[in-house]
Amino acid sequence: MADTKPDSRSAQDGIAIEPPAGCDAPIGVFDSGIGGLSVLRHIHAYLPHEHLIYVADSGFAPYGDKSEQAIVARSLAIADFLLARGAKALVVACNTATAAAISGLRARHPALPLVGVEPGLKPAAAMTKTRTVGVLATERTLASTKFSLLREQIAALTGVRFLSQPCIGLADQVEKGELHSAATAMLVRRHVAPLIEQGADTLVLGCTHYPFVRQLIESAARGATVDQPQPIAIVDTGEAVARQLLRLLTRHGLQRIEQGGGSLAAFTTGSETALATAFSNLLQLHPVIQRLAAESAIG
Ligand code: DGL
Repeated sequence: MADTKPDSRSAQDGIAIEPPAGCDAPIGVFDSGIGGLSVLRHIHAYLPHEHLIYVADSGFAPYGDKSEQAIVARSLAIADFLLARGAKALVVACNTATAAAISGLRARHPALPLVGVEPGLKPAAAMTKTRTVGVLATERTLASTKFSLLREQIAALTGVRFLSQPCIGLADQVEKGELHSAATAMLVRRHVAPLIEQGADTLVLGCTHYPFVRQLIESAARGATVDQPQPIAIVDTGEAVARQLLRLLTRHGLQRIEQGGGSLAAFTTGSETALATAFSNLLQLHPVIQRLAAESAIG
């Protein structure tokens, strides 16, 4: 697990032995594309002194319709790429990659502070008044064993009903920068309305791309409650991930305490211009962006 100490096993056991990283080393953050920027913005705000490296695997996005094996391979390759650049910690800023690959990443890098993202069922269960929560996520996340176990556990503990809604095509719309288009609004309505009609008063954003269409999700939810207006709560775990990252860095003695802002570098297996536009429009940040080959191994 992320908190274990380095052991003496060799790389032949499938365990990577990284040289110890110092406080000044960067934190690596990755996603299938630009969705992870919804997590990065919290990390950047919460840990402003940290150096950050972001990888958008946009050349291979979306992950949501890929096989688990393919997502594991991409995640391991991206982690190796970030660790080769000296990363002291990794954030898997993607629910789909976390569901598929976090256990493989922890097994390969047992000493590394590693934070994943998973749909916020627990906070949603604490918020719902109708005891019904809608979960918006990719097909792959919702079909994963990790998600099923989480849903069963929280449902058993709280008695809350979780309605799973795969949002096919929604991450693609975000990747294309279509955050307000009529096509995206229609897609969102199609996914959100049935959840509200079945009594959900709380919606979990179970994909890191979805916070960027939060307004459309809120207005689709409002539109579906016109007869019986009721407030709809939205759960996004981006900030909780930043807090967990700080806890892990502190526990490992790896928090950067230098004054002055940290640096930000970004890599993409897709279009550099698209990533630069996303950084600028969504985060008002302008990092240097480099392109990586999408084929097989990264870098
Ligand atoms: N952003 C990703 C997630 O949180 C996945 C989107 C995709 O590539 O399908 O699940």
